[in-house]
Amino acid sequence: MSRIVLGVAGGVAAYKAALLLRALTEAGHDVRVVPTPGALHFVGAATFEALSGNPVTTDVWSDVPEVAHVRIGQTADLVVVAPATADLLARAAAGRADDLLTATLLTAHCPVVFVPAMHTEMWLHPATQDNVATLRRRGAVVLPPAVGRLTGPDSGPGRLPEPADVAALAHVALTAGADALRADLAGRRVVVSAGGTREPLDPVRYLGNRSSGKQGWALARVAAARGADVTLVAANVDLPAPFGVRVVPVGTAEELRTAMVAEAPDADVVVMTAAVADFRPATVAATKLKKDSASEPGSVPLVRNPDVLAELVTKRPPGQLVVGFAAETGDETGDVLAHARAKLARKGCDLLVVNDVSGGGVFGRPDNAAVVLAADGTATEVPHGTKDAVAAAVWQAVLPRLARPPAAPPGARR
Ligand code: CTP
Repeated sequence: MSRIVLGVAGGVAAYKAALLLRALTEAGHDVRVVPTPGALHFVGAATFEALSGNPVTTDVWSDVPEVAHVRIGQTADLVVVAPATADLLARAAAGRADDLLTATLLTAHCPVVFVPAMHTEMWLHPATQDNVATLRRRGAVVLPPAVGRLTGPDSGPGRLPEPADVAALAHVALTAGADALRADLAGRRVVVSAGGTREPLDPVRYLGNRSSGKQGWALARVAAARGADVTLVAANVDLPAPFGVRVVPVGTAEELRTAMVAEAPDADVVVMTAAVADFRPATVAATKLKKDSASEPGSVPLVRNPDVLAELVTKRPPGQLVVGFAAETGDETGDVLAHARAKLARKGCDLLVVNDVSGGGVFGRPDNAAVVLAADGTATEVPHGTKDAVAAAVWQAVLPRLARPPAAPPGARR
């Protein structure tokens, strides 16, 4: 059980902090909520106390014998501030200690993750951007805000990411440290395919697979958290887009191929996590196949689908990094790594992330383990962890291999 301080600043997105708190406590963490006085205009202390099981105070004049303004920060394993308003970021950057939350930030030795939420103009203001740069330079993680609907009818960057996304990233910071969420993909364009293709037999039936899309979603979530401009090409995945990233929905392997070939050319990194059906029914019945009709198939003739990854490799522009995924089992002809190395060579991609599925599936589960094989011969073991932790390890492997300089300076996302 880790000790997490959940700082809550005074913005309307404070209502989402209650859901984030719930997600963190359900993951087994001991959470101490430290709101600013302004946050309590939006959510009452009783809500945070009831959901956390811990007392809630906002100033340094309560629990004086406990020296709470020092002890809470000192003993934390992680501090997450969600929402972090423009004012909170300014006070943190200035090193103020005018309430319990800012005092806590000055005494924390652990990773600190700010999750900004504010109106677009406030986020883009040079004062806020300077404060963000200062906090990042000092080692804090400052996530980019999600893009989407704001308080009123307007939309743009400034939304608090969904509580489930923040909770997943908090777990990455806890297990892999602040380095796993640095803003070093800013100015990079990333295209990730996710999910599993469905190959129709008739208007209601298809040949499919059990891919949930969760690993691709985690890769998109961590890349967006690190500042990348992300596009998700999603085959049959019904999940909310992390950080409001652009989702291109597709159904079949052929549709996925068309979307990836269109999206890939100006990407710095292309990641193929999608489970692409290798074969599809040779013909698709125009009407539903009836079990008592003459059209009932005794067998289903199949034809080969395109190998999208191999095609992307042959078409990639100079400097683009292409990452494949492979679920492998060992057999009498070789172990998992031997099969994976052969596949890496066959596909020609730069990195192949290999899941050993011999002992049971990873499909639909929140956790995973992997080995990242590189075309240069290196193999990096990724310990068993959440799919976000695997995603963080993949981006750690990608970053030093990125050749081209980013298109925009860090911090100038979108
Ligand atoms: N892939 C692809 N197009 C296909 C099949 C797979 O782009 N028609 C991609 C997957 O997205 C993944 C990688 O290739 O990144 C490896 O997928 P896998 O199914 O293991 O590859 P196959 O070539 O189908 O290998 P196998 O013979 O083991 O099934």
